[in-house]
Amino acid sequence: MKSQALVGSAISTLFLALVAAHVAPSSSEAKPTIVSTAAATETLSVQSSDVELESTLDTTPIRGANIGGVFLIEPFIKPSLFDQFLSRNKEDIPVDEWTFSAALGKAEAKRQLEEHWNTFVTRDHLESMADSGINWIRIPIGYWAFNLTADEPYVDGQVPYIERVLEWSRDIGLKVELDLHGAPGSQNGYDNSGRRGVPEWLHSRTNVDRTLDALAKMTQIAVDWSDVVYGIQILNEPSRWKWEVKDIFAFYNEAYDLVRSIAPDVLFMIHDTFLSPKDWSTLVAPRWTQALMDTHIYQMFDNYMVTINETAHIEMVAKMAEDVMKFDKTSIGVVVGEFSAATHDCTKYINGLGRGSRWEGTLEGIADHPLCPFATCSCTGDYGSNPAEFSAHYKRFLRNYVDAQLAVYDQELAGWFFWNFRTEGAPEWDYILGVEQGWIPSFPRTAMPKLNESSAIVFDDAPTSHEAKSEAGQGKYQLAKSMYGIVVTLGIVVATTCYFLFSL
Ligand SMILES: *[C@@H]1O[C@H](CO)[C@@H](O)[C@H](O)[C@H]1NC(C)=O
Ligand SMILES: *[C@@H]1O[C@H](CO)[C@@H](O)[C@H](O)[C@H]1NC(C)=O
Ligand SMILES: *[C@@H]1O[C@H](CO)[C@@H](O)[C@H](O)[C@H]1NC(C)=O
Repeated sequence: MKSQALVGSAISTLFLALVAAHVAPSSSEAKPTIVSTAAATETLSVQSSDVELESTLDTTPIRGANIGGVFLIEPFIKPSLFDQFLSRNKEDIPVDEWTFSAALGKAEAKRQLEEHWNTFVTRDHLESMADSGINWIRIPIGYWAFNLTADEPYVDGQVPYIERVLEWSRDIGLKVELDLHGAPGSQNGYDNSGRRGVPEWLHSRTNVDRTLDALAKMTQIAVDWSDVVYGIQILNEPSRWKWEVKDIFAFYNEAYDLVRSIAPDVLFMIHDTFLSPKDWSTLVAPRWTQALMDTHIYQMFDNYMVTINETAHIEMVAKMAEDVMKFDKTSIGVVVGEFSAATHDCTKYINGLGRGSRWEGTLEGIADHPLCPFATCSCTGDYGSNPAEFSAHYKRFLRNYVDAQLAVYDQELAGWFFWNFRTEGAPEWDYILGVEQGWIPSFPRTAMPKLNESSAIVFDDAPTSHEAKSEAGQGKYQLAKSMYGIVVTLGIVVATTCYFLFSL
């Protein structure tokens, strides 16, 4: 996940060509054995028919969740990893995986990270997501899992744990995108590249060679697990603000030849570098096959975006996606590789550890006064981190906002990956929590909302069949059944009342 895109360019990109079925022999013998935590006793409750998956690949959108913050840690996803350092002087507090590992030293970093890899994503998580309709996962990985030098503080050893996730995915019937999320030197300077600060990536050929080496090893995993791994994202969010687009494109071409020399069929996924969709064609070579554009769409890493009201956020979904949809229809396909339900930046560490928020006007150098749609901006209640304190109105808004996004990403594009599958305390970024709480819908759905009707959406999930989706446009929204419906109906009454009070 990234921070700090400008409004228009926050929309990014990705190509995708819904690829033909990619049936391949399974060849995953000889994986290291890992002591599995609770994995052994779970029951499998999702369908995992390869036949069905293959036959629906052409028509079923990618419905994914990111397994972020596991093999490349991020302070906002699991703050507790970083809070052990809070008694230090500010400048000595780690802010990313690089400084985290340096602060602990290799042995202790390895001990803590191994425990984290072993526990933060479990088979239960994958099964629960598959139960609500997730058919893909995207796994962000730092280069140091594949190519580590002795003078770097990072630790490696992730691969067997990644392969354990692949094994579960195979059993459950999930398809996997492996995503190189951090490159040597950092491709964007964000904490989510592993190293926050001034990026060095394209400043040296050695960094590029090491990136390609890591990519080759990641692609080899895709070959070894070709019945599970369907996509390779060659690099997450190389930033057009940091590098010449032509240089990034040159890297993309080099990566294409490398990936194709190892895996002729795997989906070749590129990030849009934060360019406007109108310029995405400069990132795509006509000779590429089975390529997809990845774009990341957030409405809160921007001073303007955090000031617009709920209605405007929902309207913004269509505005931001307009050129993306055009590209998708006329070029390679587009998958929204990251998005969330957040419209504020109150979430702890979301702008980076040690940084404040636009919402409360504490983001140094960026917002020196509070920016939000209200007279008073406070990171509490609806904008706090405890979903038990969310109003019914806010939860309904979250649902409408997610529905509006899915109406585009699921129906108009090649698909989507929610960021993230889980968090420690970031409700709007937590897929599993969102489904539990009702603001993320399960799939398949009986009816998909139409964009301009999104304000009329009620919590209505009663997923039945894939076929029902084709009637979606006609949008017959079922009123919620069950207790949930009653609670929500009451909530809407309360919410509507609050809403009017609010707008006075
Ligand atoms: C990392 O990649 C470089 C460039 O290809 C290569 O020379 C080096 O041996 C690799 N290191 C490891 C540990 O694989
Ligand atoms: C939301 O903002 C828009 C644009 O500024 C405005 O027209 C609209 O009245 C606002 N809606 C509410 C409910 O405040
Ligand atoms: C909005 O509704 C109108 C009338 O039903 C329809 O023609 C139009 O296509 C809809 N727009 C979107 C973006 O769904």
